[in-house]
Amino acid sequence: MSSAVSPQNDAPHIPVMLPEVLKAMDLSKGEVAIDATFGAGGYSRAILQEGATVVAIDRDPTAIAAGQSAVEEFDGRLILSHGCFSDLDRLAHEAGYSQVDAVVADIGVSSMQIDQAERGFSFQKDGPLDMRMEMQGPTAADVVNTFERPDLTRIIGILGDERQASRISAEIAERRAKSPFETTLQLAKCVEDVLSRKAKDRIHPATRTFQALRIFVNRELDELAEALLAAERVLKPGGRLVVVTFHSLEDRLVKRFLQDRSEVSGGSRHLPQVDTKELTFKQIKRGAISASKTEADVNPRSRSAKLRSAIRTECAVGDIDRSVFGLPRLAELTSGGKR
Ligand SMILES: C[S@@+](CC[C@H](N)C(=O)[O-])C[C@H]1O[C@@H](n2cnc3c(N)ncnc32)[C@H](O)[C@@H]1O
Repeated sequence: MSSAVSPQNDAPHIPVMLPEVLKAMDLSKGEVAIDATFGAGGYSRAILQEGATVVAIDRDPTAIAAGQSAVEEFDGRLILSHGCFSDLDRLAHEAGYSQVDAVVADIGVSSMQIDQAERGFSFQKDGPLDMRMEMQGPTAADVVNTFERPDLTRIIGILGDERQASRISAEIAERRAKSPFETTLQLAKCVEDVLSRKAKDRIHPATRTFQALRIFVNRELDELAEALLAAERVLKPGGRLVVVTFHSLEDRLVKRFLQDRSEVSGGSRHLPQVDTKELTFKQIKRGAISASKTEADVNPRSRSAKLRSAIRTECAVGDIDRSVFGLPRLAELTSGGKR
């Protein structure tokens, strides 16, 4: 069960795959770790209990505020840092650590963010159509109300893996012409009307559309790609990188990065090996690990979790080539002009 640092509501975040995370982090007393996604502090607390020091990052100011009481409790071994994990090496440096022994990231939203209707992440509770983890910048309502229809189709189709994206964006365009979207339930109802819920559906019809908007509003894939590059820079030789993701877009990105950094590319067995790339990571296990059945039964959120880990080698970081991530080209969609 959760040992969240400071649960703010009646449904505290249950840390996912905690034993597997701690095993992969393999920390000893006195080592330094970055928890790139502090959230309710479940991972941080467990790491602190192992005697390590933690630089804990979160872009959500409410998560950082809720964790303040633990700073005193752990006698200076917990350093809370408000910011984005794309910047994790700089934030660790500011906290006094230019290199660290482990980095962990538990990607996505926390239960607290989903449970608080006013944050606008939930299609089950009415709230403003917001979805900004950082509480800054354009909201999901801004995207839904101002992006051109083909752009909405791409966002919902690519980031939500939603086959009916075009029909959903057409309906959004029609409804917003009469009255702009303001709340989560307005959008959930719109999607539900398009997809018409069937009894056998295991998930709410708006799940994929909400996921797409959340990922877009928070630039989650770009953030993850930059975090992996930052972790590569900040980890000591022998340092451990551990990433837990919850959907295939994120897992694919981590997988592609670790493959690029830990495997000599194929080539032909009839030709001499020409790849001189420096391999900055070594994967102990090539595939991803999933949550145990016992955990999946207790915590449904863990069912889609995938954990990947790797150990930093001595090789220096080479040239940065972001094409290894295969990121969808959505960054240029900032239209704002209607339809
Ligand atoms: C799944 S929760 C982490 C839960 C945490 N492992 C625990 O045990 O309590 C993810 C957290 O990461 C934060 N987050 C998401 N993207 C981020 C980013 N790019 N930079 C920093 N924090 C981020 C969210 O605000 C959220 O609090």
